Amino acid sequence: MKNFFIVPSILSANFANLGNEINSVIKYGADFIHFDVMDNCYVPNLTFGPVVLQSLKKNGIKFDTDVHLMMKMVDSIIPIFAKEKVKFITFHPESTLHIDKTISLIKSFGCKAGLAINPATSLDCLRYTLDKLDLVLIMSVNPGFGKQEFLTYVLKKIEKVRSLIDKNNYNTIIEVDGGIKKNNILDLLKAGANSFVIGSEIFCSKNYKSTILHIREIIYKHVY
Ligand code: DX5
Ligand code: ZN
Repeated sequence: MKNFFIVPSILSANFANLGNEINSVIKYGADFIHFDVMDNCYVPNLTFGPVVLQSLKKNGIKFDTDVHLMMKMVDSIIPIFAKEKVKFITFHPESTLHIDKTISLIKSFGCKAGLAINPATSLDCLRYTLDKLDLVLIMSVNPGFGKQEFLTYVLKKIEKVRSLIDKNNYNTIIEVDGGIKKNNILDLLKAGANSFVIGSEIFCSKNYKSTILHIREIIYKHVY
């Protein structure tokens, strides 16, 4: 089961109560916390940066961080996040001039490197990078906002990435981000995904515990 990850995105959390929101989902079985970093340039929205993470850590909130950079000029912010000992740093290929160098930069700090692929972006960029990546993030909505509708054509891309990974015997995680709900997660599992970024379905639900347990059960039933 540890190869399947439930990753709540705090984009839909209550920011007035962020520490407790994170504590709750971790207590109920979340594996990592997904940080959607947006710059109002690469995407139209603006969110938070390393200072929020530093403050959470300083105040004793314990969790493993999955950073999703939706911003330009990623190279200058990577060392700042890495200093906080984040687990994953994922960036979009369009947001750096040198994909290979950015992957190496992330890894040089001991973090795991991910590449995020937008819904209508081809998988070509994986051709020379997949062997170096720890995670491929398949976007199932256009990046920028939570609570969007899942784009079903992305399922075919997940299948393609899964076959690429299996053919090469890699351990790369396939994470999917956007519009994931209890009623479509099985389709993602069948397509070959093993990490699920879930924002509104968890943080807009009345009971985080039962929502996470329900999702965990769907995964468990699929695996066994
Ligand atoms: C979209 C973000 C997602 C988003 C997911 O740009 O990358 O992580 O928060 O939220 P939901 O689950 O509501 O689609
Ligand atoms: Zn995200």
